[in-house]
Amino acid sequence: MQQETVIVLDFGGQYNQLIARRVRECNVYCEIYSYRAGLDAIKAKNPKGIIFTGGPNSAYLEDSPAIDPAIYTWGVPILGICYGSQLMMHALGGSVCKAPEREYGKTLVTLDTVSPLFRGLPAQNICWMSHNDYIASAAPGFTVTAHTPNCPVAAAEDRARGLYCVQFHPEVLHTDNGTRMLRNFVYNVCGCRGDWKMDSFVGNTVAALRQKIGGGKVLLALSGGVDSSVCAAMLAKAVGKQLTCVFVDHGLHRKNEAAEVCKVFGPDGDFDINFVCADAKDRFFQKLAGVCAPERKRKIIGEEFIRVFEEEAKKLGAVDFLAQGTIYPDVVESGLGGESAVIKSHHNVGGLPDTVDFKEIVEPLRDLFKDEVRQAGRELGLPEYLVSRQPCPGPALAIRIIGEVTPEKIALVQDADAIWREEVDKLPPARRPSQYFAALTNMRSVGVMGDERTYDYAVALRAVTTSDFMTAEVTRLPAETITAAANRIVNEVKHVNRVLFDYTTKPPATIEFE
Ligand code: XMP
Repeated sequence: MQQETVIVLDFGGQYNQLIARRVRECNVYCEIYSYRAGLDAIKAKNPKGIIFTGGPNSAYLEDSPAIDPAIYTWGVPILGICYGSQLMMHALGGSVCKAPEREYGKTLVTLDTVSPLFRGLPAQNICWMSHNDYIASAAPGFTVTAHTPNCPVAAAEDRARGLYCVQFHPEVLHTDNGTRMLRNFVYNVCGCRGDWKMDSFVGNTVAALRQKIGGGKVLLALSGGVDSSVCAAMLAKAVGKQLTCVFVDHGLHRKNEAAEVCKVFGPDGDFDINFVCADAKDRFFQKLAGVCAPERKRKIIGEEFIRVFEEEAKKLGAVDFLAQGTIYPDVVESGLGGESAVIKSHHNVGGLPDTVDFKEIVEPLRDLFKDEVRQAGRELGLPEYLVSRQPCPGPALAIRIIGEVTPEKIALVQDADAIWREEVDKLPPARRPSQYFAALTNMRSVGVMGDERTYDYAVALRAVTTSDFMTAEVTRLPAETITAAANRIVNEVKHVNRVLFDYTTKPPATIEFE
């Protein structure tokens, strides 16, 4: 039986991934495709419904993104959002033009709650608007189902044809009941039953991996991050001892992290796999001695990592599969899925070791969003500290030390960072930042401890809130949290006599220090 799928057709909107995540939160599997994929490719997916995203263009202009109008008579329900709604109206004979009043922000919208889309919702609902153009009049056959004082067609529908459109963004949390609207679309309009559940995903993936891998050997570079750990657990469940995980201990991990990875995946852990811990600490510190330039440090670490991994892999001889912890946002961001251009070529998609002898790549998490990866990890029995770990860059603490990296400085930043995380973790989860860590500024200054003058390092604390890590706000934390951490760090970490808090947004600063 084919899994129910809803397709998000991406017209360049900034919330495309969010739409897909919200649909999946309704237990319906959802994939993102660029509008350029074309109608035939979409038909081949046999979707239960389609959602058009927003986008920066004007639907009435000649070369704006569009889709074969045959999609409207195909019979599969469509929901157009923002630009997607204007495109649908324009294509079907409605009137779309520049709005006399631009609408932006939270807006009170009057909904017709008889609409299948708005069933069970209040008639007055706050919705997130962001548009310069508007639908002046709906296309023939459509009924207007929502409006605002400035927007005569905030939603419209032609139930007979299964076509729905909303000017606002139900996918963002600023829209009250937005997820309920999407739920109404996928259940009431598309007739989905909701078969996307994590336990069945894990079960199906394990079975599919078994079939694909057969008796073959699999190799995985285990970094200790969430993605590669969940990938390892999934493969362990599927093929056990046919899997070898190589963990490169470069000595730059957060406090206790290397030991935790070895505990979970090593011989005393829960998984019956081959686990290799390559102790390469000295090699990395030697290579990094005297190196201060950030890019040089990153390059050295990247290259040395591949070299150690290759050396270990060579000892195993030829393998059949190389496993990677690629996740869905990596796929979309690499331009393979949606329309949001190539934002960055992600390190997981590409950047493979040259000399490892393998036939094929397996990527068991390719369809999952980050929070779904965490959920899959829990399902597979991984400990919470591993599953809920926050992102750490590949070069790890080496880029949280400004200037030269030494074992002593790593130990110092490990200790300060552990204290900072401990204090922040006392806050309820909803108040915690998206990413928070300590960095060593490499600046020394004068202090006084007891009756003695000190000349020691300053540690910087960072805490940011972000949804995409492309831009970030400084998280407003309680003063007591920062004060408690600062006191503990100067008292408990030797050679730190000053703690600073980084109040810079991204841009202009980046999240990491190097
Ligand atoms: P920046 O510092 O660029 O960081 O604002 C944005 C996000 O990316 C993470 N980051 C990295 N992740 N390899 C990674 O896998 C890297 O080299 C790397 N550099 C930064 C950073 O932690 C933040 O979440």
